[in-house]
Amino acid sequence: MTKQYGILAFPAKHSLSPLVHNAAFKALKIDAQYGLFELKDEELSAFIKQVKNDYISGFSVSLPHKESIIKYLNVVDEDAQKIGAVNTVINEGEILHGYNTDFVGSNQALKEIVGGLSGKKVVILGAGGATRAVIYGLLKEKAEVLAILNRTPEHAFNLAKEFSKMFGVKIESGSLENLHERSFQADILIQTTSIWTLNPNMTEQELPEFCSTEFVENFDVVMDIIYRPRITPLLQVAQRLGKKIIAGDLMFLYQAAKQFELWTKQKAPIEIMREVLEKTF
Ligand code: ATR
Repeated sequence: MTKQYGILAFPAKHSLSPLVHNAAFKALKIDAQYGLFELKDEELSAFIKQVKNDYISGFSVSLPHKESIIKYLNVVDEDAQKIGAVNTVINEGEILHGYNTDFVGSNQALKEIVGGLSGKKVVILGAGGATRAVIYGLLKEKAEVLAILNRTPEHAFNLAKEFSKMFGVKIESGSLENLHERSFQADILIQTTSIWTLNPNMTEQELPEFCSTEFVENFDVVMDIIYRPRITPLLQVAQRLGKKIIAGDLMFLYQAAKQFELWTKQKAPIEIMREVLEKTF
């Protein structure tokens, strides 16, 4: 019987996950297909019953369900618990296991460009749901998260406090304003806010201060976790300054590869997945 997988999200239509997972199943001749489960919060409970009855073997979880899915799962792995979000579910004999592969994706993307992360100094922009997996991954690899900067400083403060305590480290927090008045000396800058998704047509004049040459100059490597557009306005600035850049599609690729490995227990055909992904940009 063909195994069923898919992405649980709302909206789900624009997801690139079906493309990469179906290409990977095909490449390894695995009898499985990956589709869309475009559902709202109030439909989750019925969906979970369907997963168990119809023997859906596993699914990805994206916005807005990464946190709300947790209460429906039987087992949640430690990393996902600490991040507070699940993006991967495996159905093993009607026992639902939750994992988070976003932090794996973020770390892999960074390591591909930077090498080892231990001792690397990092500044984070944003303090939302997506930020949590990125910070968790960095701290797990013993990188030094110097500061979390966010539009609402209180959100950055809370996140810094939570992860400082979890890992026994010191993390500063602050706002995205008046960056020129503060001195930053770090290896890596990581942009995790949804600014590009929410404002796809920003003009040069509307760009936030964190895109200024004076600020971006402080870092050797600049990563953006958003992949639409692939080269965000921040990455454009970094590129112009000759910095190494990491676009969001690399994190997407590696989080998907890890999902594939959790479901199939086989090594993901990463180059096939990379190839189909690159063709979409
Ligand atoms: P996600 O799960 O995608 O991370 P989220 O949890 O809603 O979404 O978080 C969105 C992040 O983007 C937050 O850090 C948010 O800042 P606030 O905490 O101040 O809300 C940030 N963000 C959204 N729009 C932004 C904008 N126009 N400029 C700067 N930051 C923005």
